[in-house]
Amino acid sequence: MSEPIFPESFLWGAATSAYQIEGQPLADGAGPSIWHRFAHNPGRIANGDSGDLACDHYHRYRDDIALMSELGLGVYRFSIAWGRVLPEGRGRVNQPGLDFYRRLIDTLLEHGIQPMPTLYHWDLPCALYDRGGWLAPDSPGWFADYAELVFRALDDRVPIWITLNEPWITAMLGHLDGSLAPGHRDLFEAPQVAHHQLLAHAAAVAVYRGVGRHQIGIALNLEPQHPATPSDADRAAATRQDLILNRWFLDAVLCGRYPDELPGLFGPAWPEGAELELVGAGIQTDFVGVNYYSRGLVSAAHQAPAPYVSRVPPDPSRVTAMGWEIHPPGLTEILCRLKDDYGNPPVYVTENGAAFADPPPLDGEIADPERIDYLRTHIRAAHDALRAGVDLRGYLVWSLLDNFEWAEGYAKRFGIIGVDHQTQQRIPKQSARFYREVIRSRGASLVPGA
Ligand code: FCB
Repeated sequence: MSEPIFPESFLWGAATSAYQIEGQPLADGAGPSIWHRFAHNPGRIANGDSGDLACDHYHRYRDDIALMSELGLGVYRFSIAWGRVLPEGRGRVNQPGLDFYRRLIDTLLEHGIQPMPTLYHWDLPCALYDRGGWLAPDSPGWFADYAELVFRALDDRVPIWITLNEPWITAMLGHLDGSLAPGHRDLFEAPQVAHHQLLAHAAAVAVYRGVGRHQIGIALNLEPQHPATPSDADRAAATRQDLILNRWFLDAVLCGRYPDELPGLFGPAWPEGAELELVGAGIQTDFVGVNYYSRGLVSAAHQAPAPYVSRVPPDPSRVTAMGWEIHPPGLTEILCRLKDDYGNPPVYVTENGAAFADPPPLDGEIADPERIDYLRTHIRAAHDALRAGVDLRGYLVWSLLDNFEWAEGYAKRFGIIGVDHQTQQRIPKQSARFYREVIRSRGASLVPGA
């Protein structure tokens, strides 16, 4: 047997989010979220699915934590549904909602698993949406107040916090392309929503410095953008796409400012004075969470007008069920970029994984060799970054369970544990066994010939 290749302190985990797994989104006094509303809007979600039941984790969390424990997880990333804690988004606290997360966290700790809560994974309370949502200048303050309440209640037992999940997605897919909640299509909204979320992150971290004692970061969706050919035109297109997809948020979070070229891309839609406001917010972060799934292949010929993103369709033999190209070296590349261009901040891979059309279970287990291959090659890619000197502290697979994959509903399965959404039965996949062995051997099982 080979030697472990990951350090003992390296955190192995799995990630989920509230609306995708909990179910019962209105239970015990919770206020509805924009995802609840969006999912009940006919035609928005494949097969008319919704998160009404999801994985019923709200009731089954103890059993799910037992499964995490069997896997040997050291950390579990989940999200707190804002509307369970504050049904109107601000003001009145709903104690049963807060108590649910306290029980969840205590059960994790009893099993020796570190909780990594995300404060916002897309499920904005409708009451705040009705006051303008992320477009409202008050939204960073709403978020900071909610964050303070949760920090005060739970920081004594939470070692790692994440403010926001993928603010780029909320801005661009929620407000420009309209495929995700709240389903708007308005160029003027996207940079405004992004800006307010960045100010919200800054405000929550500032609050945390006063009331919290651990680490706090943000999770960003990042993907390298490669030119389809070495032509000048394709290279320029890839550079522009990299600006929109990666540098926008990396520069903001890690350098405290927007890239100089960004406002020009949005033209009149760019919010006036945003640059100075961001600098004034004194944005900070203890670490960056990297959500990595794929890369973008860019050609000038396929390019949409700024600031939309578009890509060359990938080789169909190398895609997941989402149609996303499988490209493990992109993970090493994006992690090394954090070291080379941004001063090597502490990093966690907060999401990485793949949807495939899994076969039905056989002898109580689902055979998912493609997912195993995806995980093996990407965990090796993460290790390559570690060897290159990236301050990589952990890796979390997306996802623990098959769950509600947003506009795709339940048809796209990302879990390393299968879920029969009729019976709520949890069904092990071979990838869970594979991952358990990676964790147990600290990566020794990944070494060829091991
Ligand atoms: C990410 C989301 C996560 C999940 C994966 C597949 O963008 O953060 O909730 O849907 O994609």
